[in-house]
Amino acid sequence: MQSFRKFLTAVMVMSSFTSIAVAQPVGSEYPSLAGRTVLITGSTDGLGRETALRLGALGAHVLVHGRNAERGAEVVEEINSGAGSAQFYAADLGSLADVRELAAAVREDHEQLHLLINNAGIGSGFADGARQTSADGYEMIFQVNYLSHYLLTDLLLPLLETSAPAQVINVASGAQRSVNFDDIMMERSFDSNAAYSQSKLAQILHTFHLATRYDAAELTFNTLHPATMMDTTLVRQMSSPARTTVDEGATALVNLAASPALIGRTGLYFNGLREARASSQAYDAAARQRLDTLSRELTGLPPETPL
Ligand SMILES: NC(=O)c1ccc[n+]([C@@H]2O[C@H](COP(=O)([O-])OP(=O)(O)OC[C@H]3O[C@@H](n4cnc5c(N)ncnc54)[C@H](OP(=O)(O)O)[C@@H]3O)[C@@H](O)[C@H]2O)c1
Repeated sequence: MQSFRKFLTAVMVMSSFTSIAVAQPVGSEYPSLAGRTVLITGSTDGLGRETALRLGALGAHVLVHGRNAERGAEVVEEINSGAGSAQFYAADLGSLADVRELAAAVREDHEQLHLLINNAGIGSGFADGARQTSADGYEMIFQVNYLSHYLLTDLLLPLLETSAPAQVINVASGAQRSVNFDDIMMERSFDSNAAYSQSKLAQILHTFHLATRYDAAELTFNTLHPATMMDTTLVRQMSSPARTTVDEGATALVNLAASPALIGRTGLYFNGLREARASSQAYDAAARQRLDTLSRELTGLPPETPL
Protein backbone atom coordinates (compact mmCIF):
# COMPACT_ATOMS: atom_id res chain seq x y z
CA MET A 1 0.00 0.00 0.00
CA GLN A 2 2.75 2.39 1.05
CA SER A 3 4.73 1.59 -2.09
CA PHE A 4 1.68 2.17 -4.30
CA ARG A 5 1.22 5.63 -2.69
CA LYS A 6 4.90 6.41 -3.35
CA PHE A 7 4.45 5.28 -6.95
CA LEU A 8 1.38 7.55 -7.37
CA THR A 9 3.20 10.52 -5.89
CA ALA A 10 6.18 9.98 -8.18
CA VAL A 11 3.96 9.80 -11.26
CA MET A 12 2.00 12.92 -10.21
CA VAL A 13 5.22 14.89 -9.82
CA MET A 14 6.46 13.59 -13.18
CA SER A 15 3.22 14.41 -14.97
CA SER A 16 3.26 18.00 -13.72
CA PHE A 17 6.57 18.55 -15.53
CA THR A 18 6.22 16.44 -18.63
CA SER A 19 3.57 16.12 -21.26
CA ILE A 20 2.65 12.44 -21.18
CA ALA A 21 0.25 10.49 -23.35
CA VAL A 22 -3.23 10.23 -21.89
CA ALA A 23 -3.94 6.67 -22.85
CA GLN A 24 -1.83 3.74 -21.75
CA PRO A 25 -0.67 1.97 -24.90
CA VAL A 26 -2.92 -1.01 -25.41
CA GLY A 27 -1.37 -4.23 -24.24
CA SER A 28 1.16 -2.59 -21.93
CA GLU A 29 1.43 -3.49 -18.28
CA TYR A 30 -0.44 -1.63 -15.57
CA PRO A 31 0.93 -1.29 -12.05
CA SER A 32 -0.22 -3.84 -9.49
CA LEU A 33 -3.46 -2.96 -7.70
CA ALA A 34 -2.60 -5.08 -4.65
CA GLY A 35 -3.94 -3.33 -1.56
CA ARG A 36 -6.54 -1.38 -3.57
CA THR A 37 -10.26 -1.95 -2.99
CA VAL A 38 -12.58 -1.44 -5.95
CA LEU A 39 -16.39 -1.44 -6.08
CA ILE A 40 -17.87 -2.06 -9.54
CA THR A 41 -21.63 -1.82 -9.80
CA GLY A 42 -23.14 -4.22 -12.31
CA SER A 43 -20.17 -6.57 -12.37
CA THR A 44 -22.16 -9.79 -12.68
CA ASP A 45 -22.41 -9.40 -16.46
CA GLY A 46 -21.07 -7.64 -19.56
CA LEU A 47 -18.58 -4.79 -19.28
CA GLY A 48 -18.59 -4.71 -15.46
CA ARG A 49 -17.87 -8.43 -15.23
CA GLU A 50 -14.92 -8.29 -17.62
CA THR A 51 -13.53 -5.20 -15.87
CA ALA A 52 -13.86 -6.90 -12.46
CA LEU A 53 -11.88 -9.89 -13.75
CA ARG A 54 -9.15 -7.66 -15.20
CA LEU A 55 -8.79 -5.44 -12.11
CA GLY A 56 -8.84 -8.60 -9.98
CA ALA A 57 -6.05 -10.05 -12.12
CA LEU A 58 -4.04 -6.90 -11.34
CA GLY A 59 -4.34 -7.80 -7.64
CA ALA A 60 -7.25 -5.59 -6.52
CA HIS A 61 -9.82 -6.59 -3.94
CA VAL A 62 -13.00 -6.35 -6.00
CA LEU A 63 -16.44 -5.74 -4.55
CA VAL A 64 -18.63 -7.40 -7.17
CA HIS A 65 -22.17 -5.99 -7.31
CA GLY A 66 -25.40 -6.93 -9.06
CA ARG A 67 -28.70 -8.64 -8.37
CA ASN A 68 -27.89 -12.12 -9.63
CA ALA A 69 -26.11 -13.90 -6.76
CA GLU A 70 -25.26 -16.96 -8.86
CA ARG A 71 -23.43 -14.95 -11.53
CA GLY A 72 -21.90 -12.83 -8.78
CA ALA A 73 -20.49 -15.95 -7.10
CA GLU A 74 -18.94 -17.08 -10.40
CA VAL A 75 -17.12 -13.76 -10.83
CA VAL A 76 -15.93 -13.86 -7.21
CA GLU A 77 -14.66 -17.41 -7.63
CA GLU A 78 -12.75 -16.57 -10.79
CA ILE A 79 -11.09 -13.53 -9.20
CA ASN A 80 -10.24 -15.46 -6.02
CA SER A 81 -8.51 -18.14 -8.07
CA GLY A 82 -6.03 -15.56 -9.41
CA ALA A 83 -3.96 -12.66 -8.09
CA GLY A 84 -6.86 -10.71 -6.59
CA SER A 85 -9.65 -11.28 -4.11
CA ALA A 86 -13.36 -10.55 -4.27
CA GLN A 87 -16.71 -10.63 -2.52
CA PHE A 88 -20.27 -10.15 -3.72
CA TYR A 89 -22.84 -7.53 -2.71
CA ALA A 90 -26.44 -7.82 -3.87
CA ALA A 91 -28.52 -4.67 -4.29
CA ASP A 92 -31.29 -3.61 -6.65
CA LEU A 93 -30.58 -0.11 -7.93
CA GLY A 94 -34.29 0.22 -8.62
CA SER A 95 -34.65 0.83 -4.88
CA LEU A 96 -33.00 3.71 -3.01
CA ALA A 97 -33.38 1.71 0.23
CA ASP A 98 -31.24 -1.04 -1.35
CA VAL A 99 -28.64 1.57 -2.36
CA ARG A 100 -28.47 2.83 1.23
CA GLU A 101 -28.03 -0.74 2.49
CA LEU A 102 -25.29 -1.41 -0.07
CA ALA A 103 -23.37 1.73 0.95
CA ALA A 104 -23.78 0.88 4.65
CA ALA A 105 -22.49 -2.67 4.08
CA VAL A 106 -19.45 -1.45 2.13
CA ARG A 107 -18.66 1.13 4.84
CA GLU A 108 -19.12 -1.49 7.55
CA ASP A 109 -16.91 -4.09 5.86
CA HIS A 110 -14.09 -1.86 4.57
CA GLU A 111 -11.86 0.80 6.05
CA GLN A 112 -10.82 1.91 2.58
CA LEU A 113 -12.30 2.22 -0.89
CA HIS A 114 -9.95 3.42 -3.61
CA LEU A 115 -12.07 3.15 -6.73
CA LEU A 116 -15.80 3.28 -7.35
CA ILE A 117 -16.93 2.35 -10.86
CA ASN A 118 -20.59 3.21 -11.42
CA ASN A 119 -21.28 0.84 -14.29
CA ALA A 120 -24.61 -0.96 -13.74
CA GLY A 121 -27.14 0.00 -16.33
CA ILE A 122 -30.24 -0.81 -18.29
CA GLY A 123 -30.78 0.20 -21.89
CA SER A 124 -33.58 1.31 -24.13
CA GLY A 125 -34.61 -2.33 -24.67
CA PHE A 126 -35.40 -2.76 -20.97
CA ALA A 127 -39.03 -3.90 -20.48
CA ASP A 128 -39.42 -3.90 -24.28
CA GLY A 129 -39.10 -0.13 -24.26
CA ALA A 130 -42.11 0.47 -22.00
CA ARG A 131 -41.96 3.07 -19.22
CA GLN A 132 -41.42 1.46 -15.81
CA THR A 133 -41.23 3.02 -12.38
CA SER A 134 -38.85 2.13 -9.57
CA ALA A 135 -39.73 1.19 -5.99
CA ASP A 136 -39.39 4.93 -5.30
CA GLY A 137 -41.82 5.91 -8.04
CA TYR A 138 -39.17 7.33 -10.40
CA GLU A 139 -38.69 6.53 -14.07
CA MET A 140 -36.67 3.31 -13.96
CA ILE A 141 -33.88 4.04 -16.49
CA PHE A 142 -33.18 7.42 -14.86
CA GLN A 143 -33.04 5.82 -11.42
CA VAL A 144 -30.93 2.73 -12.19
CA ASN A 145 -28.43 4.45 -14.50
CA TYR A 146 -28.14 7.81 -12.78
CA LEU A 147 -30.03 8.56 -9.55
CA SER A 148 -29.08 5.45 -7.57
CA HIS A 149 -25.44 5.95 -8.54
CA TYR A 150 -25.75 9.60 -7.45
CA LEU A 151 -26.86 8.42 -4.00
CA LEU A 152 -24.30 5.59 -3.80
CA THR A 153 -21.46 7.97 -4.69
CA ASP A 154 -22.57 10.53 -2.13
CA LEU A 155 -22.80 7.92 0.63
CA LEU A 156 -19.36 6.51 -0.21
CA LEU A 157 -17.54 9.85 -0.66
CA PRO A 158 -16.35 9.99 2.98
CA LEU A 159 -14.81 6.51 2.63
CA LEU A 160 -13.20 7.43 -0.70
CA GLU A 161 -11.81 10.63 0.84
CA THR A 162 -10.18 8.76 3.71
CA SER A 163 -8.62 6.39 1.13
CA ALA A 164 -7.07 9.16 -1.01
CA PRO A 165 -5.78 9.08 -3.65
CA ALA A 166 -9.07 7.62 -4.85
CA GLN A 167 -11.18 7.67 -8.01
CA VAL A 168 -14.77 7.61 -9.18
CA ILE A 169 -15.51 6.52 -12.75
CA ASN A 170 -18.98 6.81 -14.23
CA VAL A 171 -19.66 4.56 -17.19
CA ALA A 172 -21.76 6.79 -19.41
CA SER A 173 -22.30 6.48 -23.16
CA GLY A 174 -21.94 8.29 -26.45
CA ALA A 175 -25.76 8.33 -26.48
CA GLN A 176 -26.40 11.67 -24.75
CA ARG A 177 -29.47 13.91 -24.59
CA SER A 178 -29.92 17.08 -22.55
CA VAL A 179 -31.62 16.59 -19.20
CA ASN A 180 -35.20 17.87 -19.57
CA PHE A 181 -35.87 19.62 -16.27
CA ASP A 182 -39.52 20.19 -17.28
CA ASP A 183 -40.27 16.45 -17.43
CA ILE A 184 -37.23 14.64 -16.05
CA MET A 185 -39.26 11.46 -15.25
CA MET A 186 -40.79 11.55 -18.75
CA GLU A 187 -44.33 11.38 -17.41
CA ARG A 188 -45.76 13.45 -20.28
CA SER A 189 -43.88 11.80 -23.08
CA PHE A 190 -41.79 8.63 -22.80
CA ASP A 191 -39.30 7.28 -25.27
CA SER A 192 -36.85 4.64 -24.02
CA ASN A 193 -33.98 5.85 -26.25
CA ALA A 194 -34.47 9.41 -24.93
CA ALA A 195 -34.67 8.10 -21.35
CA TYR A 196 -31.40 6.19 -21.77
CA SER A 197 -29.59 9.13 -23.39
CA GLN A 198 -30.85 11.57 -20.73
CA SER A 199 -29.66 9.26 -17.91
CA LYS A 200 -26.23 8.96 -19.53
CA LEU A 201 -25.73 12.72 -19.93
CA ALA A 202 -26.94 13.16 -16.33
CA GLN A 203 -24.06 10.88 -15.26
CA ILE A 204 -21.62 13.11 -17.12
CA LEU A 205 -23.04 16.30 -15.55
CA HIS A 206 -22.64 14.65 -12.14
CA THR A 207 -19.04 13.63 -12.89
CA PHE A 208 -18.06 17.15 -13.96
CA HIS A 209 -19.89 18.71 -10.99
CA LEU A 210 -17.98 16.59 -8.48
CA ALA A 211 -14.68 17.22 -10.28
CA THR A 212 -15.04 20.93 -9.48
CA ARG A 213 -15.49 20.22 -5.77
CA TYR A 214 -12.50 18.02 -4.92
CA ASP A 215 -8.74 18.37 -5.05
CA ALA A 216 -7.59 16.16 -7.93
CA ALA A 217 -4.60 15.01 -5.93
CA GLU A 218 -7.05 13.39 -3.50
CA LEU A 219 -10.09 12.37 -5.50
CA THR A 220 -10.69 12.28 -9.27
CA PHE A 221 -13.96 11.97 -11.19
CA ASN A 222 -13.93 10.82 -14.80
CA THR A 223 -16.42 9.32 -17.23
CA LEU A 224 -16.42 7.46 -20.52
CA HIS A 225 -18.22 5.96 -23.45
CA PRO A 226 -16.60 2.50 -23.33
CA ALA A 227 -17.37 1.22 -26.85
CA THR A 228 -20.31 1.27 -29.27
CA MET A 229 -22.88 -1.54 -29.17
CA MET A 230 -20.83 -4.17 -27.38
CA ASP A 231 -22.15 -7.70 -27.41
CA THR A 232 -23.89 -7.59 -24.00
CA THR A 233 -27.29 -8.34 -22.48
CA LEU A 234 -28.15 -4.62 -22.63
CA VAL A 235 -27.53 -4.50 -26.38
CA ARG A 236 -29.17 -7.87 -27.06
CA GLN A 237 -32.36 -6.55 -25.35
CA MET A 238 -32.40 -3.78 -27.97
CA SER A 239 -32.57 -6.41 -30.73
CA SER A 240 -29.79 -4.52 -32.52
CA PRO A 241 -26.68 -6.22 -33.86
CA ALA A 242 -23.53 -5.86 -31.76
CA ARG A 243 -20.81 -3.78 -33.38
CA THR A 244 -17.96 -4.12 -30.88
CA THR A 245 -16.80 -6.47 -28.17
CA VAL A 246 -16.82 -6.35 -24.37
CA ASP A 247 -13.06 -6.75 -24.67
CA GLU A 248 -12.81 -3.35 -26.41
CA GLY A 249 -14.97 -1.60 -23.78
CA ALA A 250 -13.10 -3.19 -20.89
CA THR A 251 -9.77 -2.08 -22.37
CA ALA A 252 -11.02 1.53 -22.29
CA LEU A 253 -12.46 1.25 -18.78
CA VAL A 254 -9.38 -0.45 -17.32
CA ASN A 255 -7.25 2.24 -18.96
CA LEU A 256 -9.23 4.95 -17.16
CA ALA A 257 -9.02 3.01 -13.89
CA ALA A 258 -5.39 1.95 -13.91
CA SER A 259 -3.32 4.04 -16.32
CA PRO A 260 -0.56 5.96 -14.49
CA ALA A 261 -0.92 8.65 -17.19
CA LEU A 262 -4.32 9.59 -15.75
CA ILE A 263 -3.35 9.92 -12.11
CA GLY A 264 -4.38 13.30 -10.75
CA ARG A 265 -6.46 14.13 -13.87
CA THR A 266 -10.12 14.86 -13.24
CA GLY A 267 -13.31 16.02 -14.97
CA LEU A 268 -12.51 14.13 -18.18
CA TYR A 269 -14.78 12.43 -20.68
CA PHE A 270 -13.32 9.64 -22.79
CA ASN A 271 -14.60 8.05 -25.98
CA GLY A 272 -12.91 4.66 -25.67
CA LEU A 273 -9.21 5.34 -25.19
CA ARG A 274 -9.36 8.95 -26.43
CA GLU A 275 -10.20 12.05 -24.44
CA ALA A 276 -13.26 13.63 -26.06
CA ARG A 277 -15.94 16.29 -25.66
CA ALA A 278 -19.32 15.39 -24.23
CA SER A 279 -22.63 16.96 -25.23
CA SER A 280 -22.81 20.73 -24.55
CA GLN A 281 -25.08 20.62 -21.46
CA ALA A 282 -22.23 18.93 -19.55
CA TYR A 283 -20.27 22.20 -19.76
CA ASP A 284 -23.16 24.32 -18.43
CA ALA A 285 -22.37 24.93 -14.75
CA ALA A 286 -25.90 26.16 -14.04
CA ALA A 287 -27.43 22.96 -15.46
CA ARG A 288 -25.00 20.84 -13.43
CA GLN A 289 -25.92 22.73 -10.25
CA ARG A 290 -29.63 22.46 -11.02
CA LEU A 291 -29.37 18.69 -11.55
CA ASP A 292 -27.34 18.32 -8.37
CA THR A 293 -29.88 20.22 -6.26
CA LEU A 294 -32.75 18.20 -7.75
CA SER A 295 -30.91 14.89 -7.26
CA ARG A 296 -30.38 15.64 -3.59
CA GLU A 297 -34.09 16.34 -3.17
CA LEU A 298 -35.08 13.17 -5.05
CA THR A 299 -32.75 10.98 -2.98
CA GLY A 300 -33.56 12.63 0.36
CA LEU A 301 -30.04 13.96 0.85
CA PRO A 302 -29.46 17.25 2.67
CA PRO A 303 -28.44 20.26 0.55
CA GLU A 304 -24.83 20.28 -0.62
CA THR A 305 -22.35 22.10 1.60
CA PRO A 306 -21.20 25.29 -0.18
CA LEU A 307 -17.53 25.26 -1.26
N1 LIG B 1 -23.20 -2.32 -24.26
C1 LIG B 1 -22.81 -1.20 -24.86
O1 LIG B 1 -22.55 -1.17 -26.08
C2 LIG B 1 -22.63 0.06 -24.07
C3 LIG B 1 -22.28 1.24 -24.76
C4 LIG B 1 -22.11 2.41 -24.02
C5 LIG B 1 -22.27 2.38 -22.65
N2 LIG B 1 -22.62 1.23 -22.02
C6 LIG B 1 -22.81 1.25 -20.57
O2 LIG B 1 -22.01 0.23 -19.99
C7 LIG B 1 -22.59 -0.17 -18.76
C8 LIG B 1 -22.64 -1.69 -18.69
O3 LIG B 1 -23.47 -2.13 -19.73
P1 LIG B 1 -23.42 -3.60 -20.33
O4 LIG B 1 -23.66 -3.45 -21.78
O5 LIG B 1 -22.22 -4.31 -19.84
O6 LIG B 1 -24.76 -4.21 -19.68
P2 LIG B 1 -25.13 -5.70 -19.19
O7 LIG B 1 -24.25 -6.71 -19.79
O8 LIG B 1 -26.60 -5.80 -19.41
O9 LIG B 1 -24.80 -5.65 -17.64
C9 LIG B 1 -25.54 -4.79 -16.80
C10 LIG B 1 -25.11 -4.99 -15.36
O10 LIG B 1 -25.90 -4.08 -14.57
C11 LIG B 1 -26.55 -4.80 -13.55
N3 LIG B 1 -27.89 -4.25 -13.30
C12 LIG B 1 -28.86 -3.99 -14.20
N4 LIG B 1 -29.97 -3.54 -13.57
C13 LIG B 1 -29.68 -3.51 -12.26
C14 LIG B 1 -30.40 -3.14 -11.11
N5 LIG B 1 -31.69 -2.73 -11.15
N6 LIG B 1 -29.81 -3.24 -9.90
C15 LIG B 1 -28.53 -3.67 -9.82
N7 LIG B 1 -27.78 -4.04 -10.86
C16 LIG B 1 -28.36 -3.95 -12.08
C17 LIG B 1 -26.65 -6.23 -14.02
O11 LIG B 1 -26.63 -7.05 -12.87
P3 LIG B 1 -27.69 -8.28 -12.61
O12 LIG B 1 -27.91 -8.94 -13.94
O13 LIG B 1 -26.97 -9.13 -11.60
O14 LIG B 1 -28.89 -7.61 -12.06
C18 LIG B 1 -25.35 -6.38 -14.83
O15 LIG B 1 -24.30 -6.77 -13.99
C19 LIG B 1 -23.98 0.49 -18.69
O16 LIG B 1 -23.91 1.61 -17.85
C20 LIG B 1 -24.23 0.93 -20.11
O17 LIG B 1 -25.07 2.06 -20.20
C21 LIG B 1 -22.81 0.07 -22.69
